[in-house]
Amino acid sequence: MTPLQPSTLAQADVIIRQYPQKRSATMPLLHLVQEDRGHITPEDMAWVAEKVGVTPMQVLEVVTFYPMFRQHAIGRRHVKVCRTLSCALRGSYELMESLEKALQCPRGSTSPDGNFTLEFVECIADCGCGPVVQVDHTLHENVTPASAENFVQKIRASLQDPNYGKTAPQPNTPEWKG
Ligand code: FES
Repeated sequence: MTPLQPSTLAQADVIIRQYPQKRSATMPLLHLVQEDRGHITPEDMAWVAEKVGVTPMQVLEVVTFYPMFRQHAIGRRHVKVCRTLSCALRGSYELMESLEKALQCPRGSTSPDGNFTLEFVECIADCGCGPVVQVDHTLHENVTPASAENFVQKIRASLQDPNYGKTAPQPNTPEWKG
């Protein structure tokens, strides 16, 4: 298994020092590990448990309780379509069908080329601009079924961009508007 990056190990110690009780750092450390590896392995859970002074089983309980933590690898781009009421009323289910066809990837799975994982998620707190799609850390607003093909072209192009998703989108940019 690939070891965690030295920067991750150093950051973990910084995070732990921010909490009066080490175990409070469990979730931040899990986010850190997932950011590094893309998912969380049993060895990672054991490492986090040792760092914060709990049992590996207690860490596993956290990992399995929260849907944002993953135990399996995903595609290079993680495409999350909001399906909660506001986005559903504005077409997120139709959008999902269009994305499934365009990416050749059924919802809840990873495309055969390993580039995309496509999922429905619950509200991502941008209800006035639906349908909303989050790709990695970037939010795309007003992604309609009709614009799905263009949207897919854009996220395919992002595979060539090493800086994609590393900075927050700015208002009135293509990333912001979808
Ligand atoms: S309902 Fe989609 S972001 Fe809230």
